[in-house]
Amino acid sequence: MAVVDPDPMSNPTVAPVAVTIRTAREEDSASIALLATQLGYPASTEEIRKRLCRILQADADSAIVAELANGEVCGWILVVSTISLTSAPRAEVAGLVVDQAMRGLGIGARLLQAAMHWATINDFAEVRVHSNTIRERAHQFYEREGFKRIKTQVLFGKLT
Ligand SMILES: CC(C)(COP(=O)(O)OP(=O)(O)OC[C@H]1O[C@@H](n2cnc3c(N)ncnc32)[C@H](O)[C@@H]1OP(=O)(O)O)[C@@H](O)C(=O)NCCC(=O)NCCS
Repeated sequence: MAVVDPDPMSNPTVAPVAVTIRTAREEDSASIALLATQLGYPASTEEIRKRLCRILQADADSAIVAELANGEVCGWILVVSTISLTSAPRAEVAGLVVDQAMRGLGIGARLLQAAMHWATINDFAEVRVHSNTIRERAHQFYEREGFKRIKTQVLFGKLT
């Protein structure tokens, strides 16, 4: 029988490397910015600091980091609440990245597990993630973690 980690935010023993999974703090902004660049969304520390402070103050979403024993932040996930008229409220993974030197060690799985835990305790029945079609390894990762493909969409945008 599978053992479910009752507190994925604090147990450092599940991944092959010792990481602490915790809520992001303002002082993580520089590391989060570097990792955002690896994800393909370059941002300055100051830009990230402003965005992170807004997230932390609103307290409606959750920014979670993976911290190594030496204090270095090596990954982050942002899970947000979404509301709709056409479905019950859902949670959505709005960003996930692990340092490219630390991938394949189970850290992404730990972060995703913490996001799922956050969604569960906040009464979201489902977590979704939009992932660019070119991120094929990430798709394998999500499927391995139990996510099912729902549909392929076209993303539109217009500046205000
Ligand atoms: C996807 C990602 C977050 C997974 O984190 P991780 O710590 O490497 O994940 P885990 O160690 O828990 O699981 C490894 C699995 O992730 C997937 N994976 C995706 N990219 C990988 C990479 N560069 N290196 C190793 N595994 C990768 C594979 O399916 C791998 O399984 P495998 O070892 O059987 O091949 C991480 O690889 C990453 O940051 N990728 C680039 C950014 C990205 O695509 N983010 C998702 C946006 S939707």
